Amino acid sequence: MNFYDVKIKTDIEKSSYEKLGLTDEQFEQMVATASEMAQKSYAPYSKFHVGAVALLENGEMVSGSNQENAAYPSGLCAERVTVFYANAHYPQTAITHLVIYAETEDNGVVVTPITPCAACRQVLIEKESIQGSPIKLILVGKEDVYVIDSARDLVPLSFVPDSLKGE
Ligand code: THU
Repeated sequence: MNFYDVKIKTDIEKSSYEKLGLTDEQFEQMVATASEMAQKSYAPYSKFHVGAVALLENGEMVSGSNQENAAYPSGLCAERVTVFYANAHYPQTAITHLVIYAETEDNGVVVTPITPCAACRQVLIEKESIQGSPIKLILVGKEDVYVIDSARDLVPLSFVPDSLKGE
């Protein structure tokens, strides 16, 4: 038997606007739409409002917001609402970018950008696997924007469709 210590390292370094790979117009439109979606989200329990906007490879944008429920686990995050909507309407079309924006009722847009929850990460990496290309995540805070080149970077040692082959 061979034993391995698996260590995972995360670096957050200064980046630049150019790294987004979006035009000014696309970036502004995506953030404005994500903010609108957050304001329209159904989050009466947490009062934490999240909007997500996906840019598709055909240039179209689809968006969603978190949808809560009195039976709490029945609710869904903005990211999954958005990815599932994209899959339902454009099943063959890759997502290139996903903007995620969140605000609280008391303090407005979050200071530290939020990162997708573990369940959303799993859905995002499945989307990347089936489309064969990464989704750039753009996490928007009040002043800071985190850019993550691929959802896969957030899920090291991930379980993906190929894992089912057992190789
Ligand atoms: N939520 C999202 O929509 N996206 C995230 O990345 C984190 C959390 C939602 C789920 C729930 O409606 C509320 O925010 C509080 O967890």
